[in-house]
Amino acid sequence: MLRVQRQDLKEGMILAEPILDVNGKVLLADKAEISQKHIQLMQTWDIGFICIREPGDTDESIAAELKVDRIRIGDKSQFLEALQLGINTNQILSILQGKKKSEQFALPAEYEKDSSLETLFNEQTFDYYGRFLNIIEKTFHTSARNKTSLIKDMVELAQPLANFILCTEGVIGYALRSIAAKNELARHTLAVTIISGKIALLLEYNKRDLGILVLGALLHDIGKINFPPEIISLSKNASESQRRLYESHISQGISLVTGKAWMPKEVLLTIAQHHERINGNGFPIGFLGEKIHPFARIVALADYVDHVMYTGSGEGCNLLDLIRQLPLMNQLFDIGISTCFINYLRDFLLSNVIQLEDGRQAQIVFMHQSLREPIIKTSDGTIIDLNKVKNISIKKYSL
Ligand SMILES: [Fe+2]
Ligand SMILES: [Fe+2]
Repeated sequence: MLRVQRQDLKEGMILAEPILDVNGKVLLADKAEISQKHIQLMQTWDIGFICIREPGDTDESIAAELKVDRIRIGDKSQFLEALQLGINTNQILSILQGKKKSEQFALPAEYEKDSSLETLFNEQTFDYYGRFLNIIEKTFHTSARNKTSLIKDMVELAQPLANFILCTEGVIGYALRSIAAKNELARHTLAVTIISGKIALLLEYNKRDLGILVLGALLHDIGKINFPPEIISLSKNASESQRRLYESHISQGISLVTGKAWMPKEVLLTIAQHHERINGNGFPIGFLGEKIHPFARIVALADYVDHVMYTGSGEGCNLLDLIRQLPLMNQLFDIGISTCFINYLRDFLLSNVIQLEDGRQAQIVFMHQSLREPIIKTSDGTIIDLNKVKNISIKKYSL
């Protein structure tokens, strides 16, 4: 069974499961052959993904897969009602504001997407980023001792955070640039959530799917909540017992969210599969390609990006480490997702200032599709193609 995005549907594909309305009425039966009209209808129904039969699929194999991966439109669960995302940024944090947390995070009414900003980064947005980080840090700190409100607090945070991602120009830059955090797990969680959400927007996910993806990303490493700091990221020199403890964060995370009937299955799958790799080299199962849920594939890539940026060199945030790792990404991750991220990052880096090994500063004026070395312009106006000039190299990218 293949799970495809609506925009990738093609005439002649065969549905693997029926599409139901909110009352369980069949809108389109399983085994229906997709026509152009069906594709248009699915747009009206606002369906993000559709399960398609593949050659060799049997009714039994599909039933087994659907057990953990159902599509229903207009689901009226308590959670999904809470995720009816409004684009009005005045309401971004209404959930938090309505629950005595406004002193923690009050987004001013005048906060709106401002396309007239001269620079990509602005203090106000950094302030919001810092406040989100604060909330996650406080939640993790409190929940390490008392887990009762942990999941509830993260669910409440998913909506405002999804809206923040939706409404903030260049939001990925804040995650890549990041800021110092007292709690590494909280810093990592926020960065992975923002990178994941941004990729989902680039892939044109609807607001419902964005909200669920954001919650999945917020909870992806929740199984590490009680881990000692040295196990939050696994070092290359970790012992076997440290590795086993690290890998147990998947099962510990799942046990924290199971038993909640309203929890979308996509969230569970994101926690379960975010360390799987498209080539089968991941853990805990070693699932291959299409067996990994698309949300988990996105979070896996975001997780890797943050890991490379912050632990690759052991010297804090380093965009150069990330850029040098990008060609590897297509082997480890869904090629559609990694290509989308890499293309975005390439455009994002244009006009960015870099430091050269010889001490000069320069600006990126062109990034190649293949992410070879860029063409740069130095402060005296000289244009240099770093692929052709071998004695000049980049020391550091900055955001
Ligand atoms: Fe993880
Ligand atoms: Fe992670």
